[in-house]
Amino acid sequence: MRAILARSSKPYVAASGLSGHRRVGDDGRMHPGSPDDAPVTLARADTPAGEVALRSRGNVVELIVNGVFAMDSVETASEIALADAAGRPPGRVLVGGLGLGYTASALLDNGATSVDVVDLAEPLLDWARAGVTERLGRVASDPRVRLHAGDIAAWASPESAPTRGGPWDAVLLDVDNGPGFLIHDANERVYSADALGAFAGRLAAGGVLVVWSESPSPPLWAALRTLDAAAEEILVPVERDGRRFDYALYRARRPA
Ligand SMILES: C[S@@+](CC[C@H](N)C(=O)[O-])C[C@H]1O[C@@H](n2cnc3c(N)ncnc32)[C@H](O)[C@@H]1O
Repeated sequence: MRAILARSSKPYVAASGLSGHRRVGDDGRMHPGSPDDAPVTLARADTPAGEVALRSRGNVVELIVNGVFAMDSVETASEIALADAAGRPPGRVLVGGLGLGYTASALLDNGATSVDVVDLAEPLLDWARAGVTERLGRVASDPRVRLHAGDIAAWASPESAPTRGGPWDAVLLDVDNGPGFLIHDANERVYSADALGAFAGRLAAGGVLVVWSESPSPPLWAALRTLDAAAEEILVPVERDGRRFDYALYRARRPA
């Protein structure tokens, strides 16, 4: 689950208002959610980019980024759709944002050759290596995965190629709520036309750049259409409290 309450700029204590839903736990099974589930901190750290923490609430896992509730494991269709948008098999993939590991684990399930995951929150990578959640542990221990601490923006430039590798068959960006609703103000540059163009330049022929957004973003789609006139908007509908929300993915392809 993101946006609505998650992926907002509300203090994360507000996330305890997630109630009345059946929730899917990190074990993938459905469990009745309860507003009375007490939050349990699995791990937390202060970083130069703010607080990062993993919490459990019943069988739900929650991620706090920069002191803000970023996502939980209640509804992860859009994170998995992001992986699916890379195609099957996805080949060599660069992922901006580990989060709870749903996109990365789906890429592995889809047969990715290699997955480079970059995350600003270094402690999150350590917790993945330590297996603090089953899914993060599975991602970190897969021999196809390389976890990198740092800002994904630094991976866009052609100068980064000698040290960071590439080209990639897919670059998947899910580092924030999307360009209109940022957790880290500095991430504005990740969604800039210049950065998107640079990421597209790091793709192999026929490769795809896919960007997650918490709601449809005409400016983001327009920026990708300057790279690929046929760039697509893929809406991922989510039901919450009887209301429908659309998360959005934007996909541009480098000519083969
Ligand atoms: C919403 S989560 C990603 C969710 C992920 N797709 C999943 O399946 O669980 C966003 C992640 O991006 C990371 N992040 C934020 N800004 C970043 C940046 N500029 N570079 C790399 N990672 C960043 C956060 O620390 C967080 O782990």
